[in-house]
Amino acid sequence: MLTDRNPMTGNSDAQLLAALGPRSLVLVGMMGAGKSSIGRKLAQRLNLPFVDADAEIERAAGMNISDIFAEHGEPYFRAGEARVIARLLESGPQVLATGGGAFMHPQSREAIRAKGVSVWLKAEYDVLMKRIKRRSDRPMLKTDDPAVTLQRLMRERDPVYAEADVIVHSRDVPHEIIIGEIISVVMQWLKEIGRRSGGAGLP
Ligand code: S3P
Repeated sequence: MLTDRNPMTGNSDAQLLAALGPRSLVLVGMMGAGKSSIGRKLAQRLNLPFVDADAEIERAAGMNISDIFAEHGEPYFRAGEARVIARLLESGPQVLATGGGAFMHPQSREAIRAKGVSVWLKAEYDVLMKRIKRRSDRPMLKTDDPAVTLQRLMRERDPVYAEADVIVHSRDVPHEIIIGEIISVVMQWLKEIGRRSGGAGLP
């Protein structure tokens, strides 16, 4: 479904797509922030392909992420993740949901900056904790105290996620609201970038 008007900005989704060009909309942020579920719906709304980096890694490796961590370790997973993200970014425009650790990789950050618009889906600790309890297959949280691990990861990662081009607050409201906010803030960012690079600017 291509909605022609975004009530928050008055700009059409078609205008956003025109401004985006070949770039990917790249969702970054912690496990449980909603990158995959929101990303899938955002892609539907914009009529763009949706790609989940974790699923692509699993496909490329022929095994699931838990097994990759268990058999080969985290550094092996991270190297594969960076390769897969670099490859996926060649195929914009699209909505790309990344795994929670992906943006921590300097080369992936650089590639995302060059070929995409990064959106940090930022969620509060309580929201993340509630959501990640629903799944037990995340190797990063298979620790004695997942709550403490989550706090540590947030402390380490939040300053890096903050380097994303735009930030949207992920919370327990209908996805359509978050999606509207993503579209609005990305549009503002693209306009600003257009102005700064000396272009005539978007209407
Ligand atoms: C990870 C997050 C996972 C997955 C892997 C590592 C992390 O993705 O890539 O388990 O380091 O935060 P989600 O953020 O989609 O759960």
